[in-house]
Amino acid sequence: MTNQTNLNTREKYARYVTTSFSAGLEPITVTHAEGVRISDDAGREYIDCYSGIAVTNAGHGHPKVREAAKQQIDRLVHCSSYTYYVEPVADLAERLADVTPRRLQKSFFSNSGAEGIEAALRLAKVYTGKREFIALERSFHGRSFGTLSLTGNMARKTRGGPYAGGFFFAPAPYTYRSLFGEDPEVVAEQSARALENVIRFHSSGDVAAFIMEPVMGEGGMIVPPPSYIRRVKEILDKYGILFIADEVQSGFGRTGKLFAIEHAGVEPDIMVMAKGIADGFPLAATIAREEIADSFKPGEHLSTFGGNPVACAAALANLDVMLEEDLPGQAARKGEAALARLRAIQADHECIGEVRGAGLMIGIELVQSRATKEPAPALAKALRAYCREHGVLVGVAGIDGNVIRLQPPLVIAEDDLNVALDVVAAGVAELSGVAAGAR
Ligand SMILES: Cc1ncc(COP(=O)(O)O)c(C=O)c1O
Repeated sequence: MTNQTNLNTREKYARYVTTSFSAGLEPITVTHAEGVRISDDAGREYIDCYSGIAVTNAGHGHPKVREAAKQQIDRLVHCSSYTYYVEPVADLAERLADVTPRRLQKSFFSNSGAEGIEAALRLAKVYTGKREFIALERSFHGRSFGTLSLTGNMARKTRGGPYAGGFFFAPAPYTYRSLFGEDPEVVAEQSARALENVIRFHSSGDVAAFIMEPVMGEGGMIVPPPSYIRRVKEILDKYGILFIADEVQSGFGRTGKLFAIEHAGVEPDIMVMAKGIADGFPLAATIAREEIADSFKPGEHLSTFGGNPVACAAALANLDVMLEEDLPGQAARKGEAALARLRAIQADHECIGEVRGAGLMIGIELVQSRATKEPAPALAKALRAYCREHGVLVGVAGIDGNVIRLQPPLVIAEDDLNVALDVVAAGVAELSGVAAGAR
């Protein structure tokens, strides 16, 4: 191994890695990960409830995924899947057509969620001949120019503007903080009507597609009422607007179904997958109905590394694991137990405003007090640090940075999950004063 200086990993980050990466990192140098456990260079072991931002759904280094990737590495690493026929690409495209909602049949492969969404946007434009888009407030769709234009969160867009025109935003069906109250059915109906108003009053009637995350991740693990998604589909059909489901974070078993949109029983026109698709190998797929996918002319849209054979082979093995081990079912059962436990913890603590989630995509929204609902980001930060110091890795999400996210690998053993929840409970008990102190 070349080591040009005597700097350690953290010092090299400070000197050579852009601050976008290195500021705010957790003080852990990860050396190894297996299943739900992450180890650092000091020999400490952590229970991972973050999964590398909701990626390693089948567990770190699942033996079957690892083996499939190794075998593919020995055969073929890269040769441009857009210039030549490559077997794992064809096999994966066929499998995705089988496991995604019925009419979604043809996949475009790229390397990240943002790239997958970009492909969906362009495809929607090409197919419809229209140029505007509608997304949700509090959404997150990536960090490229197009996907940031589509992201409904000022904090993520800051210092990157002005963004592209022709992007409009409708209210998120977020029952905890909706302007329409807390009744899920009322929020669903009124939020859907507000979307119709955006179409009628904000757009120029040139809307190609509406995009939403069936469970909103970065916005704070917001679970839209299923009736909202169904009403939205009716409205979109009325105006001839395509529905793009961003399953980048919610897909591959995370929410208790293989894809979160299945909870609503709605079939989107285009669906984007990434993160959990290959248990850690970089890959995204944008799948669409055949007639939509076929509207790209040959060579019109591609990505050099898109459809990398190793990532595709890993994705195929990952899908086998998902189905053989019923990872969606595991997520549903464990998620339900975790939510029940967290709600019991909530009852004793004024600083927990809401506990919500689907499967193992769980958010704990921290507030100064239940009456004011004022966000408590300092508490979230402190709780994340407390958990880390006690051997559990969790994330933070939400527009105000006040939602603890629990997204362990779906294979997490119930004992490990209980240990993680014990640590969260002890942390909340010890730190509840932080909410009031940070005022
Ligand atoms: C819902 C959603 N869409 C898109 C993205 C962007 O994915 P990537 O970071 O792989 O570009 C993310 C990333 O967090 C996401 O959560």
